[in-house]
Amino acid sequence: MAAKKGNKALRAVPVSDLSDKDAKIEAKALAEEIARHNVAYHREDSPTISDAAYDGLRQRAKDIAALFPELVGELAATEAVGAAPAAGFAKVKHTVPMLSLDNAFSDDDIRDFDARIRRFLKLTETEPLETIAEPKIDGLSFSARYERGRLAVAATRGDGAEGEDITANVRTIKSLPDLIMGDVPKVFEVRGEIYMTKADFAALNERQAAEGAKIFANPRNAAAGSLRQLDPKITASRPLQAFVYAWGEIAKIAWNSQWEFLTVVKSLGFPTNPESKLCKTVEDILAFYGDLQARRADLPYDIDGVVYKVNRIDWQQRLGFVSRAPRWATAHKFPAQQAQTVLENIEIQVGRTGVLTPVAHLKAVNVGGVVVTRATLHNEDEIERKDIRVGDTVVIQRAGDVIPQVVSVILDKRHKGARKFKFPDHCPVCGSLAVREEGEVAKRCTGGLICSAQAVERLRHFVSRDAFDIEGLGGKHIEAFFGDNLIKSPADLFTLEQRDKSSLTPLSKREGWGPKSAQNLFEAINARRTISLPRFIYALGIPQVGQATARLLAISYGSLKAWRKAMVAAEDRDGEAYRDLINVESIGPSVADDLVGFFQEPQNLEVLDQLTAEIHVEDFASPSVSGSPIAGKTVVFTGNLESMTRSEAKAKAQSLGAKVAGSVSKKTDLVVAGPGAGSKLKEAEGLGVKVIDEAAFRSLIGA
Ligand code: IVH
Repeated sequence: MAAKKGNKALRAVPVSDLSDKDAKIEAKALAEEIARHNVAYHREDSPTISDAAYDGLRQRAKDIAALFPELVGELAATEAVGAAPAAGFAKVKHTVPMLSLDNAFSDDDIRDFDARIRRFLKLTETEPLETIAEPKIDGLSFSARYERGRLAVAATRGDGAEGEDITANVRTIKSLPDLIMGDVPKVFEVRGEIYMTKADFAALNERQAAEGAKIFANPRNAAAGSLRQLDPKITASRPLQAFVYAWGEIAKIAWNSQWEFLTVVKSLGFPTNPESKLCKTVEDILAFYGDLQARRADLPYDIDGVVYKVNRIDWQQRLGFVSRAPRWATAHKFPAQQAQTVLENIEIQVGRTGVLTPVAHLKAVNVGGVVVTRATLHNEDEIERKDIRVGDTVVIQRAGDVIPQVVSVILDKRHKGARKFKFPDHCPVCGSLAVREEGEVAKRCTGGLICSAQAVERLRHFVSRDAFDIEGLGGKHIEAFFGDNLIKSPADLFTLEQRDKSSLTPLSKREGWGPKSAQNLFEAINARRTISLPRFIYALGIPQVGQATARLLAISYGSLKAWRKAMVAAEDRDGEAYRDLINVESIGPSVADDLVGFFQEPQNLEVLDQLTAEIHVEDFASPSVSGSPIAGKTVVFTGNLESMTRSEAKAKAQSLGAKVAGSVSKKTDLVVAGPGAGSKLKEAEGLGVKVIDEAAFRSLIGA
């Protein structure tokens, strides 16, 4: 008993404050405790603690192993046994958010940037304002956390607040040290970009082609594909590189400027970009930009612009952030790359919601190093407005990561017989009528459930990375399975293995499949029999319900059961369920209509029933944040806020587990009212809802 108490007391101590002796005692106790839970959970199927508590123990073990490498052996068993299925990446919360950058496109934008900063800092036009200009590497940003000099965790940017754990993969990048040689604070988090050189990209694609494997469109995709491998051995075989250009959490910052930071990390053995330059004036900056743009094609890696950062850290701190981007930095993008080619055909594709999208088939052309054969034409009006005709010579452009676009037609090169394009009135796949609702730009197939194109696209969406994320099940497979009646609806995925056992033509005998790949697919499907509520909602592919809305719905309703009940009830537009729904922040009548419509369709309810018979949808625990006083509470903001913008306040409240609503009802827990608050404040007072001002809100959330 006494020993147990001792452990509990120890567990309240932050890992970084543990003495070597206490760490050893705790490691031993943790290893035993986790082993016990593993047996209870995996062998006896009768866990004695909650999953969250179990994860807490494992995390604690991991933290101790990171800070006390000598205890890794002791703790090894806690890693391996009963590990979650190795599919997908674990999540990592960024203790310091990973931000993005504002974009600038012209010299004037950059002069504005300089002027804005001077105004903010109250500098005169002639006072020196140093900036660091760095190439904007076209790769993937990462964060690598070193604890006591050792690489402990590496993560992708994710949504900026939470990324994916790519530690094992980052360890394979040779230019990033595993162990920092030199004196660094206990926690030292560096950030930068992972990329692939143009030469390595070309060689990789050659190898892939020879093996009949996937060809990557550009170095960035190749780097992303290589980094997102569940098997680090594959990542190790791919030539990835990195540049460091920023930092996250640092126990003690020992530099006063970005330039000093770059010098420090370089001396510690991190790769920094040799092109980076200290600029004293706007003219310096613009000259750097021009020079780099001219040399862009000759650089060994892809860049898509230049990043400027105020050099002095104290000034950076004063300048701070606007929503998700720092005021003290900006990205000066290179103009889009253009080329001319011939438009050979216009194909009409049908999406999962029935939208007909015209796609241009182009004579292959090289645009800034990438071969382009397709471009989007958006919709009927776009084709009409630009008068794009089959056979035309067109200007296409590629800007950053976006799909190439047709900019204009070169009329001088138009052939005499070229005919205006007639957008079809019928779905090219199922033949149903295609209609355009008033006020909409899109023409939609009315075939609904009988349209196989829509069904296939819905299935593709269902298994896609941000939805069920079923590894190894690509669009081509879905099409083939659909065509052969193997998978007609999402739930069929989860009965595939069972049906396969009694099938005369099992998967392993199908063309392109073998016993191993069939087994892998079944395992990948089975690994997804438990899914989070936001992913599940998103996977359903309800029109207008993207990831962000799915998450909001999950936060607001908490469980699949509660959500489903509320959506069915919301059919009554005068009822409470409907009011609650449109009261969810950012859900308006149009999204509400689509949600209600989905649940009015008996076929959809049937799919839900079939799915819930096969899989488990986890309830959504709000992302809080133990100890947050507003976790689970419904908060409404009204009036003007002074120290932060409305969206900052909302984001902050949501990150602390609160639901933010747009109007006051008896379900509201708290109203934050600033000057100018009107009817919402009155309603709150009428309903007896607690009202506080901005200052009280700030102190409540510890801002
Ligand atoms: S600084 C708070 N520096 O560009 C500052 N970003 O568009 C955060 N990027 O997410 C970023 N090269 O992935 C910075 N030299 C550089 C960069 C760079 C590329 C990427 C980075 C970021 C994105 C923003």
